[in-house]
Formats: sequence, structure tokens, C-alpha cells
Amino acid sequence: MSSELESPKTLVSEDPLKGVLIENKSKFKTCKQIGFYRRQKLFHLDRSPYFADLSTLNTEDGIVTLSLIHQETQGKLKLQIMAVQGNIFRIKINEESSLKPRFEVPDVLVKEPSVERLKVSILESSGLVLEHPSSSCKIHLTAKPFSLLVVQDDEELMSVNSQGLLYFENAVSPSKESHLPATNSAEEMASSEKQFGLWEGNAEDLDMQWPSSVGLDFTLHGCEHIYGLPEHADTHGLQDTGENEAYRLYNLDVFGYPIYDKMGTYGSVPLILAHNLAHTCGILWLNSSETLVEVLSKAALQRPMHVASPDMKKHKAVPEKAIRWMSESGVVDVFLLNGPAPCDVLKQYAELTGPQMFPPLFSLGYHQCRWNYEDEADVRAVDSGFDDNDIPYDVIWLDIEHTDGKRYFTWDPEKFSNPVKMQNQLKEKRRKLVVISDPHIKVDPDYTIYTEAKEKGYFVKNITGQDFEGNCWPGSSSYLDFTSPAVREWYSSQFSFDKYTDSTDVLFIWNDMNEPSVFEAPEGTMPKNAVHAQGWSHRDLHNLYGFYQQMATSEGLIQRSGGKERSFVLTRSFFAGSQRYGAVWTGDNKAEWEYLKISVPMLLSLSVAGISFCGADVGGFVGDPDTELLVRWYQAGAFQPFFRGHAMQGTRRREPWLFGEDNTSIIRRAIKERYALLPFWYLLFYRAHLYAEPVMRPLWVEFPKDPDVFGVDEQYMLGSALLVAPVLHPDVTSIDVLFPGRGENWYDYRNFKCVGSSHKQTVNVTLEEIPVYQRGGSIIPLRTTIGKSSGWMSNSPYELRIALDHKGTAVGEIYIDDGHSFQYLHEHMFRYRKFTFKKNVLYSSSADELGCYPVDAILENVLVMGFKKSPSEVIVHQAGREKRTLRYSYSKALCVLTLENVSLAVSVDWEIHFKPSQ
Ligand code: GLC
Repeated sequence: MSSELESPKTLVSEDPLKGVLIENKSKFKTCKQIGFYRRQKLFHLDRSPYFADLSTLNTEDGIVTLSLIHQETQGKLKLQIMAVQGNIFRIKINEESSLKPRFEVPDVLVKEPSVERLKVSILESSGLVLEHPSSSCKIHLTAKPFSLLVVQDDEELMSVNSQGLLYFENAVSPSKESHLPATNSAEEMASSEKQFGLWEGNAEDLDMQWPSSVGLDFTLHGCEHIYGLPEHADTHGLQDTGENEAYRLYNLDVFGYPIYDKMGTYGSVPLILAHNLAHTCGILWLNSSETLVEVLSKAALQRPMHVASPDMKKHKAVPEKAIRWMSESGVVDVFLLNGPAPCDVLKQYAELTGPQMFPPLFSLGYHQCRWNYEDEADVRAVDSGFDDNDIPYDVIWLDIEHTDGKRYFTWDPEKFSNPVKMQNQLKEKRRKLVVISDPHIKVDPDYTIYTEAKEKGYFVKNITGQDFEGNCWPGSSSYLDFTSPAVREWYSSQFSFDKYTDSTDVLFIWNDMNEPSVFEAPEGTMPKNAVHAQGWSHRDLHNLYGFYQQMATSEGLIQRSGGKERSFVLTRSFFAGSQRYGAVWTGDNKAEWEYLKISVPMLLSLSVAGISFCGADVGGFVGDPDTELLVRWYQAGAFQPFFRGHAMQGTRRREPWLFGEDNTSIIRRAIKERYALLPFWYLLFYRAHLYAEPVMRPLWVEFPKDPDVFGVDEQYMLGSALLVAPVLHPDVTSIDVLFPGRGENWYDYRNFKCVGSSHKQTVNVTLEEIPVYQRGGSIIPLRTTIGKSSGWMSNSPYELRIALDHKGTAVGEIYIDDGHSFQYLHEHMFRYRKFTFKKNVLYSSSADELGCYPVDAILENVLVMGFKKSPSEVIVHQAGREKRTLRYSYSKALCVLTLENVSLAVSVDWEIHFKPSQ
């Protein structure tokens, strides 16, 4: 074997700075060490060996079914093409008959997608045209060789198998050779076998009676920019992989992960979005086994296109991206999301996998975590530290040491001897507690969770049918099989107040190590031959493990409240659909500037893959940040969706007040800015939940027609109103800011000044704050007073910040409910209001008439930016009330008009008229 193919080592090396163990990358496989990658890469022909046998065409129920036949082996695959409601196509390819069923991903789609009847025309035996009944999208199917071309309004969006890389290892007979699509000569195969060891695997591959990998190519026409595929510590735009490492989707615990790297980290969403000036589309590859994705720009393509659809123009020399998906097992089940706008693709994806769960308000506040807050006295001291330093926060977190010997659902009897009192004290301060609950369960005959799960057969099994045992924090552990509904139900029930001793309703949950992490195992995770419910091997569903744990945890928290309260669960591992169960963070980053910088594209990639509630450990988990980095990280984190400070065991304490009053005051200010903006954050999450709009938004999503922004990684939008440009480098006095779009007004968030009209500007920065701008045409809601936590702010008055566009208009919304329950959903206990500024009048109207929540807080302040001339009078009109004149102040230099003591109810209709002076 060549040295690069040696099996991965579990090396660790001493980090000179911190004296902690940093995992060496060589513990993890490179593509060349992955058997199915090597097999698929050997497969190359000039044209696809598959043809579609049109004589087998069946169009029952408007679903197109036909056989794909391998020209040499005569092996048959069953192809199904479906039109899914909302401009989506679904393509499934499986064996026509199989010795062993293949795994099809369950539970990720919110429901079986509604299929519409395809209109099918046959093209003189050369192919078919399939028209989507409710959109202008069509598929041209070419029979020989088999390929598909997706067209919308005569624009070619993408083709499928046009590079001929459809690959399917059939389970047809026990001999190895017959599984591999016969594309290579016997000699070629024999020499590859010798050279690469195509079939022999590691010990964990031993369950393989036959290889079962699948692959398919997609070509995105006219596209230079593609995004998605979290989680990688890499740029937001996906890079060409060339012959280098492919993007790996394989959930792994990568402590202090390397950055600008395509290796698999904690979670996987197999979704790619492609964007150009005219169109956005997406590909969801629904497969939960290990998956590799190659990306090539057209210049890198080595093969000509094979699509020969008769009524299409010849291919033009336009840029295109060739994507090749390869998965270790399962079937081909792929959704083509045809857009056409970025928001359409995001909605189409949410229709399939569900919307962002609507989080409780407290979870949008600041979270203070550390491995570990040592004991109850420590928790009390940190809690009062926030009050003493006048810094708001909502949640304190307890890591693994709070338990009795890493037995989850228990408390260390000495350090946490009175957890109920501790929680009650937090509750009095209107704060919450989050504790960790990992999926590994300590092997211990005296631990009820273990004994009960063992007795019920709820652990994942090893190949010999025994409970799988591996090492994790508690030492020898077994792993709950969350893929089983019975296990999930049982696990959910463990969170009920009567079962989870000394838990109260302010306690919420953090699921960690759920890739799952298994110390000392190959690649630090569960062997692929481990066996799950119904006999499925871990290989088939590895990437779903964390998804299922968070699902069970979230359901447990909802159930403990009798279905009344929303849950909060943070998970490290995730898959498509995890957005339905809570928040995700980017794992064990380092306290280095580069990790602050990479947090932005990492979170943007999660956000466009449906996971809006995401964040990175503020300060960096591994190591000690210097003061400037910590300050800058707080400022950045305050404008990211999930905002939690966290630090590794053994690092120096870093509560926000430990760095001198100057720095404390800067951090205080950043956190207070976060709290002032909570109504805006809450609205963004409501809209993410309702309309699948990402909260943290890459510029290309918001400005799809501005090509200058397609590659921007260091700036982003919050909703469509705020432009955030965090400071990501040490010691800078200015940064370059790109003001996206054309002809937009942008206003400095702090001093309300309209910034100049140039697209790119160098702006001065101080350590005090990071640049943030409000977009002309937007209205955002804020609170005027900040409490100790979000819970203290329910009566705090509101302010509207109105930023006028060139036409002197602006729109915005506010969403209000009790902040924690499901009453908004079941009893219309909410208020959803719209504000419109036009022709010098600000209107308050209802955005949803059904809402009936009684809102106590009033609107106190209104600030209008870009108001050209002082008005002569400002008058409030409200039905059934006398007209009222309001006092105002006007700054000519800034063109800012301010109203104070407005004292208007937020939940009723009114108008404020700004009478122009003559
Ligand atoms: C993992 C987590 C980290 C946590 C630690 C101990 O490294 O990523 O956040 O603090 O485990 O539980």
C-alpha cells in the first residue's frame, strides 16, 4: 500500500500554547482512504452506460417510472420522476429488485411530498418531455445514454447524468465484480484492486456483504456561484475541488477543527444552492450515509456534454458547475428545487424539511457557558457578576461536570447538592439554566438510565448483537439508538419533571457528542457495522444520529409541559431538518482571529441550509483569547443568531467583567445592543418560522442581482434591514465595507447618518463597536430600556427606527406574543403588526387579523432617518380619539427626526402625520 493509503492514525499532539491535546488531522480519512470514493473514481467512460428503456414507461398517477438498463451488465434500476408541489422535481433511483432492501431516509421530510401529475410527451423513442403541471419547468429526458435536462421558460437550469456518472452498486450476486458497474476492463480492475484495495475495508466494514454505493452528477448551467453543504469550516461559496479533497459529509467530532478545509465536521446538510443573475436553484440529495461531493467549474470538465434534447438550442459557452455526489449506501433520492428566486428555493427546501422552529424569546438573549461552572456557589457568583456589572444575560449553562460521574439526568451530589434552589434563584431573576445531556450512557449497573435502557434493548448493537460499547466522557458507554421511535419516546419521557430528578421548568437542554463521538474508535465515531433498529447498519444512517437525539430531546421538553411550552435544545450534530428542533453551534473552535473570521461563512452556510438558529462559541472554545479578540467576538456574536460565550476546561476565566472596566463597558454595550434589538430578532425568527427566510442572510440572497456580493464572506444581512460588517482582524482602524445593491440608502446604526452613495467604502472603526447599517426603506422595532434579562423587558417600551429610502418610504413589522408558549399557534395569542411610512405618514396596521394577544408595552419613541426637512407639526390620528400633537426634535445636519413620549398602543391602528413645513 502506498503511504497515503495507510489507515488513519489516532494521533494527538501537544499544543504548545495551551498544554491541551489537539487532535491531529491524520486521525481522519482523506478521500483516497475511502473505499467507495476509490471505486467510484475508477469508474469513467465517455458516456453513461445506462439507457432508459422507454418501453417500460409507466405514468400511473402522473409519476413517471421506467427502467434504466446498464448496457453491459443488463442490471436494471428503477427510475421515478415526480412533480412535487411548488416547482420541485423528485428523482428516485433504486434497484428494480434487490436481495436486501436499501435504506431510504425516514423522518427528515415533514411529510410525503404532494405529488402533482406530470404531463408526459414522448419524443419518437429518443426521449420524453415531462412538464411540471404547476410551473413552467420541464424535464427533457434523453433515453440513450440516459440524461435529464431541466428547463424553465426555455432557460436551461441543470442537467442530470450529462457527465454519465450515474453509479449504482447493485446487490445482485455475491461476487464482488458483478456489483461494480462494468465500466472498466478486467485488467484495469485487477490492477486497481492491487493498487488501491478497492474492496477490503477496515474492520468496521466487515458487515458489507456487498458494496452498495451510489453516485450521480449534476451540471448547473450558467452558474459560477454555488453554496450550501454545511458543515465545513470553509468559505460560504463552494470551491472547486478539482482532484483535491471532495467536500465530505460525515458527522465527526473534530476538536479544534482545521479551517479552510473540506473534511467532515459535526453535521451535514446535503443541500447545494446555485445562483446566477437570472436564477437560483437547489439540489437536495437525501442520503444519510457518508457522502462526498465534488465540484468542478466548466474549465475543469474533462467530458463533453451528452444531453441531446431535440428542441433545445446547442449549449453555449457559459460558465457551469459540475457537481458529483457519491454516497456510501442507500438510494438516489434527490429533489431539484427550481426557484426561481433565492427565497423561492429556501421556501421549497422548507416545504420539504420543515421550517426553523420558533424559539422561545429567552434563547435569543445572551448565554453564558463554560466547561465548567464548578458548583452552585460558582453559578451564583457568575449570575450576580452580571447584575453587579449591569450586563444582561438570560441563561447560564452547566457542562458535563455538573452530573454525578457523567451520568446524564443526575447531579453531582456535592457540587450541586441543591439544584432546585439554584434553579429557583435563577427563576426569580427571570433567567434559565441549560444542562448538557449527551447520547452516550455510562455502563453502570447502578445507573437507572443505563439499566432500564439495557433491559429494554434500547442501545445500538455491535455486529455480534451485543450492546455496542465505546469510550466517551464517562468511560465505557453504550449509545442510545435514537433511530428507534420507541427509544425516542422513552428518552423524551426522561425529561418529565417526575423522572428527571430536581429539574424544573427553567431547565433546558444541550445535546453534545452526538455525531456520535466514540473516543479511540476509527475517526472517533461509531463503527459503520454497528446495528440499529430494524437491522439497519450504522453506515446507512450515520449522519442522522444527532438529528434524532435533538428530535427526542425537543419533544421531551415539550411533553414535560403538557405540550404548552416551546423547547430549547442546542445540538452539535445535525442533518437536514434539524432546524425543526432547536439551535446548532459550530463546535470546538479556537480562540484565534481566523476562527472568528470563519464563523461568518460557516453560519451563513448553515442559514441557507434552513438552520437559522446557529452560532459559534464567543471567544473561541479552545485556548485563551486576548482581550481585543474577546471584545471583537462579543461584538460579532451580538449580531449572530445564537449568542453564547463558551470556554474549554482549563482555560482562563473570561466572564465579561474580567478584562478591565474599559473592556467591560464595550462588551456591556454590545450585549445591551443585542437586548435592545430583541424585538427585531424575534420578528426575524417568526418570519424564518413562517416564511423560511434566513435570519442571518448572505448578501447574495438579499441582493441577487448584484454580482459584486456573490462572493462576500465577511458581511451579511440580518433580515432585509441590517447590514453587519464585523471587525475580524486585530488592531485595525478602518475596514472596507461593501454597500450592496444599487441606489440604496444606508444609515449608520449608531449615529443615523446616511452614508455616501459609493458601493465600496473604507470606514473608520474604533474598538467601541463594529459597523452596522440600516437599509433605507426599512423600519425596525427596538426596546428603549434593557432589563437584567429578556424576562424583565416584557413591559419595556418600544421604539421604531425608520430609515427612509430615496422615495421617502419605509416598511417594517413587529411580532409580539408571550415569548414562550404555543398559545400563539393554538389560541391566536399574538400580535403581528405592520408599519408603513409613505407620503409623510406613518401607519400602524395589522399584519394578521387573527392575533389577539393583549400587549401592555407601548410605543414610546420614533426616529426617522433621511427626513429631509423639519415638519411644521406632527399629529396622531387614531379612531375614536381626539387628534393629538406630538413634540418632536429635528437635526438638520443628520436629517433625523425624533419623537419621544409618543405613548401609542402597538396593537391598534393609528397614523402619525408629519405635516411638511411650507
Ligand atoms: C465538547 C463540546 C464542548 C463541551 C465539551 C465538554 O468538546 O464541543 O462544547 O464543553 O465537549 O462537554
